[in-house]
Amino acid sequence: QGDPRLKAISEAIRVIPHFPKQGIMFQDITTLLLDHKAFKDTIDIFVDRYKHMNISVVAGVEARGFIFGPPIALAIGAKFVPLRKPRKLPGQVISENYVLEYGTDCLEMHVGAVQPGERALVIDDLVATGGTLSAAIKLLERARAEVVECACVIGVPEIKDQILLGWLLSSLSRIAL
Ligand code: PRP
Repeated sequence: QGDPRLKAISEAIRVIPHFPKQGIMFQDITTLLLDHKAFKDTIDIFVDRYKHMNISVVAGVEARGFIFGPPIALAIGAKFVPLRKPRKLPGQVISENYVLEYGTDCLEMHVGAVQPGERALVIDDLVATGGTLSAAIKLLERARAEVVECACVIGVPEIKDQILLGWLLSSLSRIAL
């Protein structure tokens, strides 16, 4: 984690205390997007890691995985597959429910978006409990894709030393969850 670009990327992410509710330190990546160099460096770091891994699918988690996923997909020569919140996709879908701190949520993927045996990368802005990424992995595996890795811009303090650009191997996340 000695990459000199990481400090500027970290500093470009604004932290808003008590949003959207008391006690939450909201990690606001919109300020990173305003900083061309920091945004480009973020994408470049992912691209450098994944360009030679024979990945044909980048799956992005709604909503902020839709910001970081497509430029990575284009640069590594992969397709982009959106994993959406319920009732947003018009075609036939498979769904995966997951548990939130209060209640549950769901991710959906179009049937046929991914072919069996394809190598997939899952992208989101942030991992907290890992519930969202876990649901994303399950969706792709139900379509018989191989999830090579999940990557987020922001890790969480609970996962020590993974504050920024923390990589989560799918097998590790399954064990951790
Ligand atoms: C945030 C974030 C991740 C998820 C991480 O999304 O963008 O997708 O939470 O949390 P977890 O690791 O505990 O599952 P959010 O649920 O706020 O949805 P949004 O992107 O639509 O705002």
